[in-house]
Amino acid sequence: MFLKGKKILLGVTGSIAAYKACELLRLLQKEGAEVRVAMTDAATKFVSPLTFASLSKCPVYTSDGNPEGRPFQHIDFPRWADIFLAAPASADSIGKMANGIADDPVSLCYMSSGHEKWIAPAMNSTMYLSCAVQKNLQTLRSFADTTVLESPSGKLACGENGPGRFMEPAEIVAALKQFRSKENDFAKSVLITAGRTEEAIDPVRYISNRSSGKTAVALAEAFWNAGFQVILVHGPMDVKIPNGILEVAVQSAQEMYESVLSRQAEVNAIVHCAAVADYRPKNISTSKIKDSRSQFVLELEPNPNILRDSVKNKTEKQVIVGFGLETDDVQKHGKEKLEKSGADFLVLNTPVMPNAGFGFDQVPFAILEQGKSVPELTMRSKRELAAEIVNKVRQKLEDLGA
Ligand SMILES: Cc1cc2nc3c(=O)[nH]c(=O)nc-3n(C[C@H](O)[C@H](O)[C@H](O)COP(=O)(O)O)c2cc1C
Repeated sequence: MFLKGKKILLGVTGSIAAYKACELLRLLQKEGAEVRVAMTDAATKFVSPLTFASLSKCPVYTSDGNPEGRPFQHIDFPRWADIFLAAPASADSIGKMANGIADDPVSLCYMSSGHEKWIAPAMNSTMYLSCAVQKNLQTLRSFADTTVLESPSGKLACGENGPGRFMEPAEIVAALKQFRSKENDFAKSVLITAGRTEEAIDPVRYISNRSSGKTAVALAEAFWNAGFQVILVHGPMDVKIPNGILEVAVQSAQEMYESVLSRQAEVNAIVHCAAVADYRPKNISTSKIKDSRSQFVLELEPNPNILRDSVKNKTEKQVIVGFGLETDDVQKHGKEKLEKSGADFLVLNTPVMPNAGFGFDQVPFAILEQGKSVPELTMRSKRELAAEIVNKVRQKLEDLGA
């Protein structure tokens, strides 16, 4: 699961490992998650709620009083969250969560949370191996909405060696990132092209463009979250590719063309998001072109058209999405491009508005469909754009019986 933008409710209980929840919170924030904290009374004896309030920039939910004086925090906090994470989870709190007891902020949030719930136990080995704790962990594992993180063996705070250790915060974050809800597994695959291409002039120079890859990464995340297997065929880009995405790095338009067409048969959908150079130098100089300060003419030849040829090769049950960037007469040119390409959808956008487009989080766009009228372009976030494309592709695949 992608943690960027996720809302995580961190339940901290009375374990010596409570201080590690501070690092966990910071790591989750580093991944782009928003974190709020609920604490048991015992937890507040290990770490002050003020520490978590400062780190999370939000009042902590404790039994002393509800943040912001709101009376329904035990409902509001879990409702706000996408994920509930009890870390560290004491033997006592594990017992409560497993048995439907909800008499403190953490067990109460666990019970009133309707989303993914994660438990990271932390305790002494003897406690961990006790019949009661093992039975309670077994009960929690049997709940469809709950994942118990396996407690690693190792040196414990009490000096003993054995199971029951609190999983390292970085490992908890990694486990969350690797997780994908089974209900979400759509068993479909999508190939997304991303970034820009670079067309070599000589060993040190090239022709390229300003595409950052942000939209493609938002798309990759959205498709992945929707249960798709994602292949990202990408040229150079300025953003990190999230875990879980199969990436194929290319440089030139020709390489991207070959990579996409050779994988087309493996996927249900292709989204052509990369900014591919239309032209490339006809001859690539093998040595650096000398600076003669006289007029220099670079002869260009067209690159292969990846969108057009993938549409030509498409099977009846495949869906193809093209991207069109226009600077003038945007809607007219977009419609022409959609019709000429034969793609199922064309995402039309324009870079001419301030603080939008290349490198920004928002973009003015419209999604055009074959046979339908052209909608107005509206300014929205790249995440919204990605979510809308995912919905359209899913719907289309269902309509096609893919
Ligand atoms: C110094 C100290 C360290 C403790 N560490 C743990 C621990 O790591 N895990 C655990 O389950 N209980 C531990 N306990 C016991 C719990 O704090 C105790 O069971 C408490 O009632 C748990 O309450 P809670 O589940 O409401 O947070 C510790 C107690 C003390 C005094």
